[in-house]
Parts: sequence; structure tokens; C-alpha cells
Amino acid sequence: MVYLTKLKHTGSVISSSDKFGAKMFDVAARYFSQYARGIFIGTGSGVVAQYFMQAPVPFAFVEKHPAFVRQFHERFGADTPLLAKDFFTLPIDESGEGLANCVMVSCMPVTGMFYSEKLVEQFRDALNSGSTIVQMSYTPFIKQIRLFDRLQREGFKVQRVSTVFFNIPPASVFVLRKA
Ligand SMILES: C[S@@+](CC[C@H](N)C(=O)[O-])C[C@H]1O[C@@H](n2cnc3c(N)ncnc32)[C@H](O)[C@@H]1O
Repeated sequence: MVYLTKLKHTGSVISSSDKFGAKMFDVAARYFSQYARGIFIGTGSGVVAQYFMQAPVPFAFVEKHPAFVRQFHERFGADTPLLAKDFFTLPIDESGEGLANCVMVSCMPVTGMFYSEKLVEQFRDALNSGSTIVQMSYTPFIKQIRLFDRLQREGFKVQRVSTVFFNIPPASVFVLRKA
């Protein structure tokens, strides 16, 4: 139960386990040979992000919350680059912070109150620009996730590839691609 000792110190009982971080990396690694770069959205406590620090393709890290930005620099060093930005402001292009033609790993929440038309639009544009999205969710079924249901109905391929039960709460890894 190693993850019980890795809580975020933010007052939240929700935290990703090391096992889940390793699983997100394993899944994303399947796509490294297809892309020259990656982008990681929502570094949070860094439990998942730590696996992507030495990835064979360079990753840009993005986090919008100032407390987690601080935590990232405390954990990985002031010199480790982090884009203190909101996902929704990132361009759909092939620049270092662009969402086009890359492997996008996202720990950003996408369910419930986090669902929006802008979210659908940004995911759709990234997928149409050749990117593969590896998204975590605490909701295990595709049909329960409005964003995924919507993208599937538009013809995108959405797969649940893994669920890690030793996580608080259990978390699934989904892969989204243009069919
Ligand atoms: C579920 S938590 C991160 C999970 C991470 N694996 C952990 O254990 O800490 C989600 C993170 O996404 C960040 N986030 C949410 N919406 C975002 C957005 N629009 N742009 C960038 N980061 C965002 C939050 O600030 C939070 O740090």
C-alpha cells in the first residue's frame, strides 16, 4: 500500500499511485515511436509526471494551478521546465506547447462539471491534427464519460486499455485516436 504514503498534502484524499503512474507510462510508451514529442497535462502532485521526465521523446509539462506549479518545482527542481498554463489556451499546432501531432498524456479531469463544449473541441482538434491522447479517469466505463461518448459518436476510437485498482480511487487509462 505504498500509495497511502504518497498523498498530496493538499487536503485531498485523491491521489495517483506509483503503480498507476507506471501504467500511464507503459500505455503512452506504445506511441513514442510515432511522435517526436509529448505533452503532459495536469502534473498535480507529480506522481504520474515523474515517469515522463526521462521519456525517450521530450515532454512539455503543463499545470494551471499555482499550488501544483510550486509543488512541481519543489519536487523536480526549479530548472525543470513547466508551462504554468491552462490546457484550453494551448494552440493546435506543432510548437513545443502545441497539441498537434504529439502524444498527449492527460491527468486533467474531464468528467462531470469539467465537461464542456470547449473540452470536446480541444480534444477533437488535437485528434484531427494527428495526436494520440492517453487520458486517466476515475470513471471506469466509456459510456459514462460524456466526452468519450460524444467523440465515439463522431467516429473517433476510444478504448479503455487498463484499470489500476490499487489507486485511490481505482483509475482507468483510456486511449483516444482518430479511427
Ligand atoms: C487529478 S489531478 C492530477 C493527478 C495526478 N496524477 C496526481 O496524482 O496528482 C488533476 C490536475 O490537473 C490540473 N488541471 C485541471 N484542469 C487543468 C487545465 N485546464 N489546464 C492545466 N491543468 C489542469 C489540476 O490543477 C490538477 O493538478
